[in-house]
Amino acid sequence: MSAISDLIDEHRCIERILSALEEISSSLQSGDKVEHYQVIRIFDLITDLVEKIHHGKEENILFPLMDKYGYRRSDLPIASLMAEHDKGRALVKIMRLASANYEENPHPIIENAPAYVKLIRLHIMREDAVFKVWDTKISQEDQASLSKKCAELEAAVVKQGRKNECLREIERL
Ligand SMILES: [Fe+2]
Ligand SMILES: [Fe+2]
Repeated sequence: MSAISDLIDEHRCIERILSALEEISSSLQSGDKVEHYQVIRIFDLITDLVEKIHHGKEENILFPLMDKYGYRRSDLPIASLMAEHDKGRALVKIMRLASANYEENPHPIIENAPAYVKLIRLHIMREDAVFKVWDTKISQEDQASLSKKCAELEAAVVKQGRKNECLREIERL
């Protein structure tokens, strides 16, 4: 499987995280009980799988590689994809800070989760289309180096086995 297909597969996992966040946020809004572990787990998954692993691979490995194929970081689509990552990070930062105190004040999560979910769902939809085109352009050699670098990045940004742990947690969401 190509490195690009791996990234597209990660999108499916991220969509499940988004649905779980959406459920947490609507439960908080209706005043239903949300367990502490659910809140901790969702923001840990977003931090590790979405931000460190997935966006890390895109920003540090895939997007720089695409410069070679004529897709500049300063032009569309990469510039807007990067801007969406930044917007997402800002929303996550607010929610993560508020998560320690979510029982007393759930509003930062209730107010920012829908915007985050919508932003990243659309982002993923756009990336799926862009990545499918890129997959046909990247040489075999670059695909191999992409896979190798993605594995190295994963090992550098999260503890060993964390990616699989995230995937198992997502199954249970
Ligand atoms: Fe992205
Ligand atoms: Fe992505």
